[in-house]
Amino acid sequence: AVEQTLSIIKPDSVGDNNIGAIIARFEEAGLRLAALKMIQLTKAQAEGFYAEHKERPFFPSLVEFMTSGPVCVQVLEGENAIVRNRDLMGATNPEEAAEGTIRRDFATAVSANAVHGSDSAESAKREVAYFFSADEIHTRWA
Ligand code: CMP
Repeated sequence: AVEQTLSIIKPDSVGDNNIGAIIARFEEAGLRLAALKMIQLTKAQAEGFYAEHKERPFFPSLVEFMTSGPVCVQVLEGENAIVRNRDLMGATNPEEAAEGTIRRDFATAVSANAVHGSDSAESAKREVAYFFSADEIHTRWA
């Protein structure tokens, strides 16, 4: 099915000047951008986005990292977009990420892993709505 998924280019990649290189990976793979913006997350926004991880030991450092600089958030759209985006990203830990994946090529650590992508249809729905209103999403399939 055609799906939408939420993608975040994290502060490490924005700082490393890799926004365009990462977006090119999505486009070259046939995923389309239905929405795109650059934002500086507040602490409350980052905590809310990652609420499912709030009991994890890395939660405070995750929030600190995600608010350390601007991020680029986008809605990717396409056939099986959720799993295709996760395949393009590679494993959460860049040391375990396959060759040719975004995290293998652009990330430096599990805590600074270049990109985030929704992990299920339920998360995608929540995460897209977390950052974008309906009028900001320029779908080409609905
Ligand atoms: P992300 O897909 O954005 O979702 C949660 C994030 O927590 C994850 O990517 C990692 O960047 C981050 N994180 C930091 N430390 C860890 C860890 N030890 N295990 C898993 N995720 C971690």
